Amino acid sequence: MARKTIYLIAGARPNFMKIAPIIRALRTHDQFFDYRLVHTGQHYDREMSDVFFEELGIPAPDFHLECGGGSHAEQTARIMVAFEKVCLAADPRPDCVLVVGDVNSTLACAIVAKKLQIPVAHVEAGLRSGDMSMPEEVNRRVTDSITDWFFCTEPAAAENLLREGHDSSRVFHVGHVMIDNLLFQVDQLARTDTGGFESSALKAMVGERYGVVTLHRPSNVDDAESLSRIVKALRTVADEIPLVFPMHPRTRGHLERFGLDLGPRIHASRPLSYMDFLNLWKDARLVMTDSGGLQEETTALGIPCFTLRENTERPITIDEGTNTLVGTSPEQIILHASRALSDGGKVGRRPALWDGNAALRTTQILQDQLA
Ligand code: UD1
Repeated sequence: MARKTIYLIAGARPNFMKIAPIIRALRTHDQFFDYRLVHTGQHYDREMSDVFFEELGIPAPDFHLECGGGSHAEQTARIMVAFEKVCLAADPRPDCVLVVGDVNSTLACAIVAKKLQIPVAHVEAGLRSGDMSMPEEVNRRVTDSITDWFFCTEPAAAENLLREGHDSSRVFHVGHVMIDNLLFQVDQLARTDTGGFESSALKAMVGERYGVVTLHRPSNVDDAESLSRIVKALRTVADEIPLVFPMHPRTRGHLERFGLDLGPRIHASRPLSYMDFLNLWKDARLVMTDSGGLQEETTALGIPCFTLRENTERPITIDEGTNTLVGTSPEQIILHASRALSDGGKVGRRPALWDGNAALRTTQILQDQLA
């Protein structure tokens, strides 16, 4: 039987750790699959992109679309135009386009594929925050409305899809490819003990007891008043425990523009590589974040996590994991952090199928569906 060609789409930092295990799994089925990797270029700084390819063992992309920056419409449109050219020139024609997550690249490539009548597989399908002011929620809903095969990380995601009317024979709860990657990298870290230069230096500076902060959501960092309230809360938490804050370029830009001072006990750094960051947060007393993925990774390793948002599309991290949704009011942030520092924080368990084999389950299902 002729091999099936899958086009894998990666564009932004949170995509790379999901693509890595999928490529490893496809390689174990290489009598059945051929694949091409497309990097849209949504993230383009070396520390937001290339370092992840190197550390996670992702091969160089077959196509680099170089569509970073710009407004949502500009970015999405540029990716669509460039990816359509790739698909039209492809020989053989793609049998499937696989997108991950909820970034603009996910949406743009799913639309292009579907209009060319190429089936779309969506990894991390069905997550819903219910908050349409989040660009990611729009991306998720539109992508899922045209997806052919849905791969879900948690039961609530599959339930959302069924409630929206999707055919249950196309909805698969497979677990989480990002956790496949996490477990793989934790193992590498333990064996090689090369956590990375920057996190080691940061750890040496703050000592054993520290917290980790990441922030990049537009709703938290683009508005001067919102960001200033969060910084105020973090400065109070930092009186109790030093905080390390690897900073997204969007956040750094806004802190500077708004003239906000982090104070002496919040240590900002450049964005860290995957291993450097893992080496940092895995030993933290608590993590405060507005990231989607980090809510799940902290649950997988049992680190208390406080999500500085009003909602989450990942409810299993709250119901079973170590995540607590605290919102963005300074009083709540300070109260929750302080409580966790005195009692050690929430204890959770690792959700079902977050076992390191989600990518293998995904590729097995794709093989059956494409056969
Ligand atoms: C994107 C995703 C978000 C994800 C986040 C992780 C969308 C809608 N958002 O948000 O879901 O959680 O990535 O980081 O797709 N920039 C750089 N260098 C880079 C990348 C970005 O300087 O390598 C700056 C640019 O000014 C850029 C801005 O950050 O315009 C925002 O980048 P963009 O990819 O549009 O959105 P993110 O905030 O990174």
